Amino acid sequence: GDALRVALAGLGTVGGGVIRLLDTNRDLITRRAGRPIEIVAVSARDRTKDRGVDLSRFAWVDDTASLASYPDADVVVELIGGSDGPALTLARTALDAGRGFVTANKAMLAHHGLELAQKAEAANAALKFEAAVAGGIPVIKGLREGAAANAIARVYGILNGTCNFILSKMEAEGRDFAEVLAEAQALGYAEADPSFDIDGVDAAHKLSILAAIAFGTQPAFGDVAIGGVRHVLAADIAQAASLGYRVRLVGVAEEGAGGLFQRVHPHLVPLDHPLAHVTGSTNAVVAEGNFVGRLLFQGAGAGDGPTASAVVADLIDIARGEYGASFAMPAHELIPAGKADSGER
Ligand code: NDP
Ligand code: HSE
Repeated sequence: GDALRVALAGLGTVGGGVIRLLDTNRDLITRRAGRPIEIVAVSARDRTKDRGVDLSRFAWVDDTASLASYPDADVVVELIGGSDGPALTLARTALDAGRGFVTANKAMLAHHGLELAQKAEAANAALKFEAAVAGGIPVIKGLREGAAANAIARVYGILNGTCNFILSKMEAEGRDFAEVLAEAQALGYAEADPSFDIDGVDAAHKLSILAAIAFGTQPAFGDVAIGGVRHVLAADIAQAASLGYRVRLVGVAEEGAGGLFQRVHPHLVPLDHPLAHVTGSTNAVVAEGNFVGRLLFQGAGAGDGPTASAVVADLIDIARGEYGASFAMPAHELIPAGKADSGER
């Protein structure tokens, strides 16, 4: 069939990974998708930067925001980041024009997810964001599709690869916080502003997206209580170990008496719990469904290859024509998170 034409904004860790993945697995992806997926135009800040991939075969667009109206592009892929700015302009413009939009940008979805889902529905366009939560793990698809028949009682997990990398290296190697953070940055795991990682904000962005899908609530970053790992000391980790625990940054969303409980905080995880054995930049998500039981999703939560894998999976869905409500139900069905337990459902 006709190729799915992609305009790609952002050529950093994840954007570069997407180009390499599409090059490496081209034939397999074409057969699975039923048609080729072709990047037609790209944009980033610096045209001259060497990104280790051949960009000469794509059109370069200087004004990144105008990529959303690049002639003949079917889908815009946004891998810039930031809750507002060029990412949000691209999302609004692409969706208003009825183009598909794929993003890894959990910050933008946590703040503007409802508006973007409404736009996508109004234009009958795809809005997909598998890469935004837990990197390469297909947890959005797992909850939105695989567990779609279940009422979910609780969803929780390790949602930030940078923090988990830091905590596990501090424990296993007795390394210093700052030194391990620098290593996570060099590996491409950290956000442009790493305080988002270590202060729990990134995990909270992701939790608000997961909670929306699991509980049918409007994504509401402001409703998440947040604590990070900035003040965790090697001595705290050693003390926890001596009591039979590991320290992990865990996000939890569950129904409570007054509404949806959403919280990100360092937790003491007992050694016999699966989350205690999640090390490095790995993420893990547990969801409890009333018919399926307990599901555990685990895999790479950050990095170029795993994150690109999730982005391209979304492109394959769009190429196949398989997409629907972004947050598992139409946007008008999503209720404010604080009212999740008010009996309206
Ligand atoms: P990088 O910083 O590596 O890349 C960002 C890219 O966006 C760069 O190519 C940069 O251009 C471009 N860019 C930045 N600002 C602008 C701007 N104002 N106008 C145009 N282009 C701009 O980020 P990542 O690839 O790590 O992250 C991209 C997105 O993916 C973010 O939303 C992040 O949260 C998300 N994500 C990242 C993961 C990871 O493991 N890294 C995992 C899951 C999600 P230039 O190169 O010219 O400077
Ligand atoms: N900075 C994020 C992390 C990238 O460390 O988990 C993946 O979303």
